[in-house]
Amino acid sequence: MEHPGLPSVIVVVLGLLGNFVEGLTPRVSFPIGAPGRSLSHFNSSDVRNTTTLLLSDDGDTLYIGARDFILSLNVSQKDITVIGKLDWSPSEKDMYDCSMKGKKKADCHNFVRVLQFLNSTHMYACGTFAFSPRCTYIKSEPFSLVTSPTGKPEEGRGRCPYDPYQRNSAISVDGELYTGTVADYMGNRPVISRHLGEGSHVDLKLDDTVGWLEDPTFISSSFVPSEEKIYFFFSEVGREYDFVEKFTVSRIAQVCTSDIGGQRTLQKRWTTFTKAQLLCKSDNEIPYNVLQDIVTLPPPDGTSVDDTLFFGIFGSQWSVNTGKSVVCAFRLGDIKDVFRGHYKVLNRDTGRWSPRPQERPANPGECGLHNASDNILRFVKENFLAEESVRPVERRLTLVSPDQRYALMAAQRVTASNHKLYTVLFLLTETGYLHKAVLLDDGDAHIVEEIQVFEQPQPIKSVLLSVSKGEVFVGSSEGVVKVPVSNCSYYGSCSECVLARDPYCAWDHTHKVCAAIDGIQDVAGQDVEGGNVQRECVSAIMPRSRPGPAKGNAAKLLLVSLGKVVRLQCPEVSRLARSRWEGLDLYLDPNVYQTQDDNSLNFLSTAATQGQYSCISTENNFQQTLAVYQVKLESHPTQQTTPTSEAPTKALASTTRGNLRGRPTFPPAPTSATVRQVSANFTRRVAPSAGSEETGVTEADSPGGEALPVEQGKTYLKELVVVSMLLAACVTFLITIGLYNARQRFRNKTVPQDVSQERDAEQEPLRDDQSPCGNGKRSDPTAPNGQANGVACNGTPKASNGHLPNTPT
Ligand SMILES: *[C@@H]1O[C@H](CO)[C@@H](O)[C@H](O)[C@H]1NC(C)=O
Ligand SMILES: *[C@@H]1O[C@H](CO)[C@@H](O)[C@H](O)[C@H]1NC(C)=O
Ligand SMILES: *[C@@H]1O[C@H](CO)[C@@H](O)[C@H](O)[C@H]1NC(C)=O
Ligand SMILES: *[C@@H]1O[C@H](CO)[C@@H](O)[C@H](O)[C@H]1NC(C)=O
Ligand SMILES: *[C@@H]1O[C@H](CO)[C@@H](O)[C@H](O)[C@H]1NC(C)=O
Ligand SMILES: *[C@@H]1O[C@H](CO)[C@@H](O)[C@H](O)[C@H]1NC(C)=O
Ligand SMILES: *[C@@H]1O[C@H](CO)[C@@H](O)[C@H](O)[C@H]1NC(C)=O
Repeated sequence: MEHPGLPSVIVVVLGLLGNFVEGLTPRVSFPIGAPGRSLSHFNSSDVRNTTTLLLSDDGDTLYIGARDFILSLNVSQKDITVIGKLDWSPSEKDMYDCSMKGKKKADCHNFVRVLQFLNSTHMYACGTFAFSPRCTYIKSEPFSLVTSPTGKPEEGRGRCPYDPYQRNSAISVDGELYTGTVADYMGNRPVISRHLGEGSHVDLKLDDTVGWLEDPTFISSSFVPSEEKIYFFFSEVGREYDFVEKFTVSRIAQVCTSDIGGQRTLQKRWTTFTKAQLLCKSDNEIPYNVLQDIVTLPPPDGTSVDDTLFFGIFGSQWSVNTGKSVVCAFRLGDIKDVFRGHYKVLNRDTGRWSPRPQERPANPGECGLHNASDNILRFVKENFLAEESVRPVERRLTLVSPDQRYALMAAQRVTASNHKLYTVLFLLTETGYLHKAVLLDDGDAHIVEEIQVFEQPQPIKSVLLSVSKGEVFVGSSEGVVKVPVSNCSYYGSCSECVLARDPYCAWDHTHKVCAAIDGIQDVAGQDVEGGNVQRECVSAIMPRSRPGPAKGNAAKLLLVSLGKVVRLQCPEVSRLARSRWEGLDLYLDPNVYQTQDDNSLNFLSTAATQGQYSCISTENNFQQTLAVYQVKLESHPTQQTTPTSEAPTKALASTTRGNLRGRPTFPPAPTSATVRQVSANFTRRVAPSAGSEETGVTEADSPGGEALPVEQGKTYLKELVVVSMLLAACVTFLITIGLYNARQRFRNKTVPQDVSQERDAEQEPLRDDQSPCGNGKRSDPTAPNGQANGVACNGTPKASNGHLPNTPT
């Protein structure tokens, strides 16, 4: 791993740093409030459970179904403003009746769970209304509830669940409402039905026939106009698998919008209802059987409607796969094939399904069956479960997340700068992070970033993507958050822009900015597949951006006292990068230098460890220097402030400008270095307490002379290793007795006047038995103890004990 440009540099890779995980690690993470991803919020103290979202066609107005309210918000600007707010709450009596039935008062409100456009002037909403569902018409302009002339409320049964925690689905087509929900208080009567029909287009529902639905959880529904079909997605008990107790299966069901029910048989019932299993599994693997969410991705322009894809998030019923989430994609063409195929037959006596091949008087699920004979309708009534299962595209999983449970998603096709179409999935984790994943040609997925959108796990939540405005809306009980699909300007250099592999962003070589691709006129630097910086950037921009350690003059000078632990911080620019430390003309002996999980380099300051250190990160074969330090022993001990040479931040501006500002999750001070007291309380240092750290270095450019970032979960063992290394360093150090004498003189001169007594007190009691050498002795009995204790180890800590020549303030 020698650096090609600098053969004289002795390079030691001190292990792969950080918790680098290949696969689905988001490259960058933005917690709530991170400046690199500023989000727009809507929340208010009286509007809770803002979880049902509906966006106007132009994407400028967002309607929210909340608890006891329906709102209309102006989302056309960065700040979200309220246009209208409709109070739709149950009366005191309704609430009282509800709680008398044994329901929790908090669940007795009206939780709006259906919100759909009916036509250009009206919307339709349904809510749980204190466990007694109701619906209402809403006028868009002016935004108001419509009371029916009779004053009677609209019945909500079969359109909206009673229980606000029960999932349902609803979609409106041609002014009619198609719903999947339970139609009774106990939650035992699931139904897929159509409402608001006019004339001969009567309202339809499922017949009470056995097996049409088996304790389903409704997930979503989708209208495919060219097929004139509504598809319902849900999971239910798979009775056809009678060998497993309560085996959950995921389903797609369909009905035709033209259906008007049979004339005698199946009167006011669906004649076109069929269902099939969605089998999210790769070959030789047990299926991910529990559907969590599913969205429709229309086909690219100019391609067949059969290329419509349905992306679903699936979990598993079995403990072997708990905690895992996978995404499967299903193609409309495959779904149509399955519904055109054979159907299983239900034996009414035994309740068993059999794939008995038989003569087919009709094709179940075909639109137009309502005119068919009673004979045929009796046949379709019995044959509604497709024999084949719908397999995912290419019979494989689109994405597998071993540690994140995804709850909801949105999908979009994005045209990259090379005119290739990429599918981007926005996946909401149970813990409140939105993952932006791009699906690559080789079948892998790359997670460009994760953005935290709520803080507490939410029982009910929703995700809505506005393709026209490039925004994702996330609704939860914490409010509604608007997240732009990208923030290209976060990436401050060509290399960062290309390494991000964000299909929305490319490097504009003309204006030298990372920008949204649709705004770039000329050739743009972007490589979604490989993130090849060499090709996209280096050949096109100034040579300063080339990889390689910066020259000596770019280094940050650190003056340290003898015998302290020096800690050099390396900023983390990407969770997918590996970083390592190099020493210019220094051999980074792993016995002397230790790298921590946070990529910092730790060593004892001695004459031998003076020199230049660079932190080099590598991502996609692209190397860049993230920090350079020049470590020198303090030669004028009375000096209180350290002259700092040109800061690395500045020197690296051309390559890593974007990385060093507003870094969200990484240590707050990216290029900080700290020197710790060797004699600090050992047990205190392993505890995650920043307060016990002592800064020994002045940095002109780091705000507030930061302490070490708190290290969580550090182990004792690690500290012991450090201490052992320190011992080794001590011993090396001892060998030159002349140096010892020099240091003694030096120590006598180093007592500064302004050191606080507090610090003295903190350090004092530890000096004798807790010095690193003392510990080292215990952990390494083979060391020359007498020498270590008597000379170097007692001497060195004392020299630096209780006073910190370089500590600012
Ligand atoms: C995008 O990132 C830049 C740089 O971190 C930041 O200044 C800006 O506020 C961000 N914009 C948004 C909309 O998050
Ligand atoms: C609304 O959200 C903002 C940003 O998260 C938060 O600071 C504020 O406290 C919230 N207000 C309410 C009433 O929840
Ligand atoms: C939303 O706000 C913008 C700017 O304040 C305004 O121009 C626009 O008309 C508003 N839209 C609606 C639907 O109120
Ligand atoms: C929209 O639907 C409502 C309710 O059915 C009806 O009163 C209204 O006339 C319809 N408007 C249009 C433009 O069709
Ligand atoms: C409504 O929000 C509260 C938190 O404000 C939460 O505890 C509750 O579970 C939510 N209820 C529903 C039905 O989403
Ligand atoms: C089917 O029924 C519809 C409505 O009942 C009727 O208009 C149509 O003519 C019928 N088609 C055939 C082929 O019978
Ligand atoms: C060292 O740390 C331990 C644990 O925090 C504490 O109990 C002990 O008092 C400390 N000793 C000194 C001298 O600060």
